[in-house]
Amino acid sequence: MSEALVLGGAEETPLRDLASYRAVGGYAQLLKARAMPPQEVIALLIESNLRGRGGAFFPTGRKASFIPSPEKVAKPIYITVNADESEPGTFKDREIMLRVPHRLVEGCLIAAHAIQSNFVFIYIRGEYSTEYDVLQSAVDEANAAGLLGAVKILVHRGAGAYICGEETALLSSLEGERGQPRSKPPFPAIEGLYAAPTLINNVETITTIPVVLEVGPAEYAQIGAPPDSTGTRLFCLSGNVARPGVYELPHGLTTRHLIEDIGGGVPDGRSLKAVMMGGSSFPVMTPDDLDTKLDANSLGQKGYFIGSGVVCVLDDRTCMVQFALRVGQFYMHESCGKCTPCRVGTRWLVQMLRAVENGTASESDFDLALDVCDRIIGKCLCVLGDSDAMIVASCVTKFRDEFHAHLEHGGCPFGHDSSLDGLFAPSDQHAAHEVVV
Ligand SMILES: Cc1cc2nc3c(=O)[nH]c(=O)nc-3n(C[C@H](O)[C@H](O)[C@H](O)COP(=O)(O)O)c2cc1C
Ligand code: SF4
Repeated sequence: MSEALVLGGAEETPLRDLASYRAVGGYAQLLKARAMPPQEVIALLIESNLRGRGGAFFPTGRKASFIPSPEKVAKPIYITVNADESEPGTFKDREIMLRVPHRLVEGCLIAAHAIQSNFVFIYIRGEYSTEYDVLQSAVDEANAAGLLGAVKILVHRGAGAYICGEETALLSSLEGERGQPRSKPPFPAIEGLYAAPTLINNVETITTIPVVLEVGPAEYAQIGAPPDSTGTRLFCLSGNVARPGVYELPHGLTTRHLIEDIGGGVPDGRSLKAVMMGGSSFPVMTPDDLDTKLDANSLGQKGYFIGSGVVCVLDDRTCMVQFALRVGQFYMHESCGKCTPCRVGTRWLVQMLRAVENGTASESDFDLALDVCDRIIGKCLCVLGDSDAMIVASCVTKFRDEFHAHLEHGGCPFGHDSSLDGLFAPSDQHAAHEVVV
């Protein structure tokens, strides 16, 4: 079996139109699913142990099973597909929308059948304009071909806020409200969009549903690293690596294999310093853990997360203070401000990291930064604040020597030579640096 399942058939040429998708068996799984009772489709998903690809790795079939049946609620039942894709280092959902948009549509329709919903909203990141066009045209084509039946699919463009990827903020944004998280419970499965039962899943998760039906749930459950990390994953390999890109691979290969054998390793004779693993929301990986397998359990045992499949390589020129500062600035900017530890804590961390970068911090500031992280984690409404704290704390703890070097040097020893340039969107880091030099 080819390794590509979710992107299967589109390895060389995208399958954008209906005819090319049908040529690889497209929409056959929808017909199969519609011939089954809805509960049976949910049972297949549970058997496959497909888990969410949006970051939290929640079992997909179980989530669908939480949706009450239509007879029990006097409201419509909704599906919301999370195509906001704003986690730094994540660029897999766009590949799906560009290369296999009809497989995503097919997944939406199978999920709609499974939970007996007639309304699907796809919330797409505002900056994804080509992806929007390609996806919208696939939806229109499927509609014209009569594949949608009673189901309506609406593709809604976001306005560019990272927090709108958080599921409850996404729902508020869809309703036309400010994109801020809601407290849970009630969970969206019971009270989601317009206070009605709502299933929310990531693009990759939904696109994997036809694959599970095609491969068969029992066989799918054997792929990858069973029993918990089944199937394939779209890994987003980026940073200081020779062959960056989106690679669909079974769970369970080692990080080293992905970076060195598939990605061609760190170029220009440099060495690897760290890996932003899972996304910017999680602790960074150090080189001694490169043999850790890319599955949730193996990563979890070492304190890492698989997140949204990010593997961003940082070479030895990277200043880890600049890195933490840049990531911290992102979270400070994207905090919705609803809760104090996140609103204030993210700002504090940026100020402290900027002082370290400038060489004006003191030894005690490192512990103070860790204390600030501690006062954020677990004390916020959503995990945006925790995310900032987790990655910053990992940099302070794992690269303490480098933080010290900034104090001894009276500023950044890397300066403009840090290979962070070109890896991340520009920040004010150099402005801060220039004050010192
Ligand atoms: C700040 C924040 C941003 C998020 N951004 C995304 C995103 O862009 N895409 C996504 O699928 N999930 C994102 N999530 C996770 C969603 O809240 C949710 O768990 C996910 O869409 C569920 O889908 P899944 O079960 O298929 O993984 C984000 C979560 C947080 C806290
Ligand atoms: S943790 Fe941050 S982003 Fe999340 S609700 Fe609180 S203030 Fe908003």
